[in-house]
Amino acid sequence: MTAPQADAVACRLRDARRVAVLGGAGLSAGSGIPTFRGGGDSLWSRFDPMRLATPEAWQADPALVWAWYRWRMALVAAAVPNAGHRAIAALAAHVALRVVTQNVDDLHERAGSRDVVHVHGRLGALRCADCSELHAAALAPLVPADVPERLPPERCTRCGGAVRPGVVWFGEALADEAWDAAVAAMACDVLLVVGTSGQVQPAASLARIAASRGAWVVEINPERGGLSGDADLHWPVPADEALPAVVDALGGA
Ligand code: OAD
Repeated sequence: MTAPQADAVACRLRDARRVAVLGGAGLSAGSGIPTFRGGGDSLWSRFDPMRLATPEAWQADPALVWAWYRWRMALVAAAVPNAGHRAIAALAAHVALRVVTQNVDDLHERAGSRDVVHVHGRLGALRCADCSELHAAALAPLVPADVPERLPPERCTRCGGAVRPGVVWFGEALADEAWDAAVAAMACDVLLVVGTSGQVQPAASLARIAASRGAWVVEINPERGGLSGDADLHWPVPADEALPAVVDALGGA
């Protein structure tokens, strides 16, 4: 028997011309990637974002910042997409779907989703901090155990500058291209808000943009958060449970 929420979402999806997902760290939690907020091993309860995720932190101690991001890259490399990522990829067979994520991992792509908009960048999109030259990730493998204390950043083959992760740090603007694509995706009939606390702007404003354009918004998250007020339906279950149920209700992949 499917959950009534799965049937309700599937019913909306059947009538939708355009569908979007706005995802966050909770989507990758089922793959063992820690979320940023919340208890347990959440990143911002263990680490100080001001020392690790700002341009000032990079200026002050690039080896400290690089070590932390190399550790996060190792966590992602060791992880595999979960049933939530796979269900989102499968949904694209049923509906015209755009995926907008705040996540910097590549688990949607590895699950088979195409054209994923990463509003906060991607861990693997390495670039020179000085000349912005892009770098292919040919990094020595790192075991995702403890965070190494310091690792000197790789050097840019073009100008010799330090290579940084391609993520958006606190205090930095989002890339125009990604933001424009995300806003365009919010012109949808149904928005699935999955696994985000809705604490970080401007990404969190995307749900309201979709709602103001008439989208029906469902929030899939065990907890209520900053975007619950924008949702027509709050479905309090993990993403890797809810999303496969929606695909089942639609008639399978
Ligand atoms: P958060 O860590 O703020 O929130 C994660 C959300 O996922 C919470 O609301 C949890 O209740 C929910 N959650 C946990 N497990 C879940 C599961 N299995 N299924 C569904 N939901 C689950 O992560 P984000 O909202 O993505 O920014 O954080 C936004 C931004 O803050 C990140 O992109 C990052 C961070 O600072 C940058 O790095 C720029």
